[in-house]
Amino acid sequence: MTDPEDDPTYRAQQRAASARGLPPRGRRLALSDEQALAALARRIAEALPAGALLVLTGPLGAGKTTFVKFLALALGSEAPVTSPTYALVHEYPTPQGTLVHVDAYRLPDAAALVALGLDELRDRARLTVVEWGEVLLARETDAYQLALDRAGGDDADASEAGLHGATWLGQPER
Ligand SMILES: Nc1ncnc2c1ncn2[C@@H]1O[C@H](COP(=O)(O)OP(=O)(O)O)[C@@H](O)[C@H]1O
Ligand SMILES: [Mg+2]
Repeated sequence: MTDPEDDPTYRAQQRAASARGLPPRGRRLALSDEQALAALARRIAEALPAGALLVLTGPLGAGKTTFVKFLALALGSEAPVTSPTYALVHEYPTPQGTLVHVDAYRLPDAAALVALGLDELRDRARLTVVEWGEVLLARETDAYQLALDRAGGDDADASEAGLHGATWLGQPER
């Protein structure tokens, strides 16, 4: 097995990511409490450019909706954030532009989300964030991905019940 840290291209990518304030790619960050999740949301909200699409993956209870709540706060919104389970799309005005919040759980595929107007929503949004968004990853090749988890990952500390974590996966390799 080769260590990715030995690869100069990998190291350059890691440096570029941290220069933009994004977390290191592929490494699980333990999130011991909601404050840690809020700090991660602030960091990501600041680093992602206008119009970015952020796909959140992870099981029920991993913290996806809570993360969106902290994203809204980070962008300066006072709107209450709730899971768009039935409406599928919520829009929150923020001083930086609209935060679009999608729940793709009940959508069969990416085409269904495109039919809902994803492209148009994205074009005018500060940030579009999609819970259960894995269906989008094959089509939206510029999407950023954050995988949230609960008591998972390879981290030895994560065996403690209820401990949340997040892995920044960034954009797919080109
Ligand atoms: N990092 C964290 N530390 C502690 N509790 C968390 C964390 N992230 C989420 N939670 C809690 O976990 C519960 C489920 O979170 P939620 O955002 O609804 O998950 P999801 O949208 O992924 O189903 C909520 O009660 C939330 O407060
Ligand atoms: Mg949710």
